[in-house]
Amino acid sequence: MRITTANLQKLRDESNRITMLSCYDASFAALCEAAGVEVFLIGDSLGMVMQGHDSTLPVSMEDMIYHTRCVVRGSQRALVVGDLPFGSYQQSPQQAFENAARLMAAGAGVVKLEGGAIMAETVAFLVARGIPVMGHLGLTPQSVHTLGGYRVQGKSEEAAQRILQEARLLQDAGAAALVLECIPVALGKQITDTLRIPTIGIGAGPHCSGQVLILHDMLDIYPGKKARFVKNYMQGAGSVQEAVQRFVREVKDGSFPTPEYCFA
Ligand code: KIV
Repeated sequence: MRITTANLQKLRDESNRITMLSCYDASFAALCEAAGVEVFLIGDSLGMVMQGHDSTLPVSMEDMIYHTRCVVRGSQRALVVGDLPFGSYQQSPQQAFENAARLMAAGAGVVKLEGGAIMAETVAFLVARGIPVMGHLGLTPQSVHTLGGYRVQGKSEEAAQRILQEARLLQDAGAAALVLECIPVALGKQITDTLRIPTIGIGAGPHCSGQVLILHDMLDIYPGKKARFVKNYMQGAGSVQEAVQRFVREVKDGSFPTPEYCFA
């Protein structure tokens, strides 16, 4: 039986931190699951780390379905989160439903989409039709061109309050959890303390209900520039398995992320 969004809620309610990694294939899925990872994100980051693009924008639904199927075949217990790629959900709730249903048919247990207030109607539409949704706020990579680059978000009081308000809207629309990317520690804490649903941070500080990293970053495989929040878990590890086990242990005991991986 796979982990469900209800299990994530229980982990959050019991202050048991959630471990999530991006994952794109069956072999890594099996290895990471054996190391204790609870949630796999089939992230559209695959456009960068698997396909060599310089952003996530070129990723297609077909790509996402292919990699979701691979991860589902390689795992038995982990919750599988399928990312809706750029252009596959922003047009209308109906468009989002059609594509989310394809990811669910490929084996995802949740779909993830980026954006705040503008996505609230779509989140409610999907949830009402049986599709659990994970939101994504802060640095939303599909909007890199309107954000003006990969930058920390929510630094001013006004921007922070806007993100907090959007988090509330997504929760009220029925989102099961939120990814918070690249925001100051204090804002990560404020959102986590305000919401009932789990928050999963990536560069959002140690107070989130869980942590996620991109697999190829934390294993130091990706040749591109690494963000400040990435810890190289291969350093000092004798094997990939050991590196992933250390990530799981450090998330669970709260020793990751330390301030050097956070934004003030
Ligand atoms: O695509 C992805 O891997 C993501 C993470 C950055 C959370 O969305």
